[in-house]
Amino acid sequence: MQQQVHIGLAGFGNVGAGVFKNLANNRVLLMERLGLELVVKKIVVRDLKKKRDVAAPDNLFTSRWEDLIDDPNIKIVVELMGGLEPALQLILRAIERGKIVVTGNKALLAEHGQEIFDAAQKYKVPVFFEAAAAGGVPIIKAVREAFVGNHILSMHGIINGTCNYILTRMTESCMSFEDALREAQEAGFAEADPTLDINGWDAAHKAIILASLAYGFWVGTEKVYVEGIEKVTAADIRFAKQLGYRIKLLAIIKAGPRSEIEVRVHPTLIPQSHVLASVNGVFNAIAVNGDVVGETLFYGRGAGQDPTSSAVISDLAEAAVALESPRHNYGFTPHGLYGTCRPIEQIVSQYYLRASVVDKPGVLAQVAGILGELNIGISSVIQPEEHEPDAVPLVLMIHDATNAQMRDAVDRISKLESVKRPPRLIRVETFAA
Ligand code: HSE
Repeated sequence: MQQQVHIGLAGFGNVGAGVFKNLANNRVLLMERLGLELVVKKIVVRDLKKKRDVAAPDNLFTSRWEDLIDDPNIKIVVELMGGLEPALQLILRAIERGKIVVTGNKALLAEHGQEIFDAAQKYKVPVFFEAAAAGGVPIIKAVREAFVGNHILSMHGIINGTCNYILTRMTESCMSFEDALREAQEAGFAEADPTLDINGWDAAHKAIILASLAYGFWVGTEKVYVEGIEKVTAADIRFAKQLGYRIKLLAIIKAGPRSEIEVRVHPTLIPQSHVLASVNGVFNAIAVNGDVVGETLFYGRGAGQDPTSSAVISDLAEAAVALESPRHNYGFTPHGLYGTCRPIEQIVSQYYLRASVVDKPGVLAQVAGILGELNIGISSVIQPEEHEPDAVPLVLMIHDATNAQMRDAVDRISKLESVKRPPRLIRVETFAA
């Protein structure tokens, strides 16, 4: 008879039910690999009467999360409730009681990671969170374990499937943002309320987790620059294509000089020859560059019942092993080699700038004049053969400049009489080391 490890599962939504289902489906394989049996002993749900797609015995269900804390036989608590409370209380109380925690709650970790991992260090209890970034893609364990001997030079991630689906449909089928979003919702890829997806914050929560893990200090939400995809137009996607680029919502995480890092999420032009430009639909991918390993790429499904439960089960296996042989790693190991985030104003990038200008001679010279006065170089200019009702588009590709320089440039260009609407600025990533 195999030894059993008892698990308390908080949340039986899409992912929680998937964990229960896949633990049962792959029970024998897991027992063979782990030498023990992972057994769900209690499941916390909000509504005991709700009809469920995945069947579980009635006697497992409770509506009180405290039941997981009070049961001394439950050694691992899996938090898949989502939201900040009572998830935070559950996790902190579980840690205090010495129960290993597994969570997929990216928003909670982004907001309260410091507090959670302070508690984990204090009580010497691991908190595992593979499902909190990029779903089934094992990027957390890669950064934490496989790259333990590397300084992470950079990570570039397409880590929101909803946005990637929308941008892919806009690119491949010339759809508007609104139509592509509607299609994503109808296909069940986007949430009924997709606000956090399209405003960039779902990706930012994941970027915060990845950056914190890579650089050893918990990155505050206020330190991260975030811009969503709401303002990306079909025209921008067309013009970017003409210039040899794709537009992606990209999370960019980089080590800077000294102990500084940069963490930002925004629509980004990436060269169509770069491998991330071919990551389409709901897929996620993260390119990690380590000083020892060099370039690596992780690709897969970032959401969905089975991919996400695969990540949770990998954490459960690690937790079960950690129960047997306690160790130094509590999921996140703080260190002092890095510690500050560079403000967006100081970050240097290249840019795509699209202005709607009146169709008369001299306008390009006015725009170029402003850029020249601000010491900003132009690398190319196109005037696509398209007409807006009162204007024509003028697209400039801009050499390296700080975000502060470009903000001033956009302010001044907006004020020109010949410029009809505030110009659209999208950053360009060239992946130069
Ligand atoms: N809604 C997210 C996405 C998955 O579209 O990638 C959960 O973070």
